[in-house]
Amino acid sequence: AGNFTFTMIKPAAYENKHAGKILDMILQGGFRIKAIKLVKLSYEQAGEFYGIHKDRPFYNDLVTFMSSGPVLAAILEKENAVDDYRKLIGSTNPADAAEGTIRKLFGISVQKNAVHGSDSDENAAIEAAFFFSALERC
Ligand code: CMP
Repeated sequence: AGNFTFTMIKPAAYENKHAGKILDMILQGGFRIKAIKLVKLSYEQAGEFYGIHKDRPFYNDLVTFMSSGPVLAAILEKENAVDDYRKLIGSTNPADAAEGTIRKLFGISVQKNAVHGSDSDENAAIEAAFFFSALERC
């Protein structure tokens, strides 16, 4: 398993002032922050990031939402990072997420589900490179 994953705190969670609590859960969960920045994506940039979903019915709404305000993007290091982070954040739909997970605590809907987390090591590498240059990675 790879040793890093990629995450974004989504616009609603950031706007609702949950970023500090979410970052604390990430750090207390044993992840090290290797890169981090606040980014306001354009519609085109958000569309490229979520290009894998372009044929899904929710794509346009998702891209509109993800470009509606700043996201806090980060690379997180830990052994088995992708799977362990998915456990920490919980199911995509906050209503289905386990108690104590980030999405259960801070998600509002399947779209406004507080955070994104990479679903594979391959996508973690692609997503990290989308946001961060080599110089920005500690
Ligand atoms: P995320 O981890 O950012 O990856 C893709 C996002 O698409 C996902 O979180 C959800 O916010 C969103 N998504 C997935 N399925 C649906 C759905 N059925 N309806 C609306 N949004 C969805």
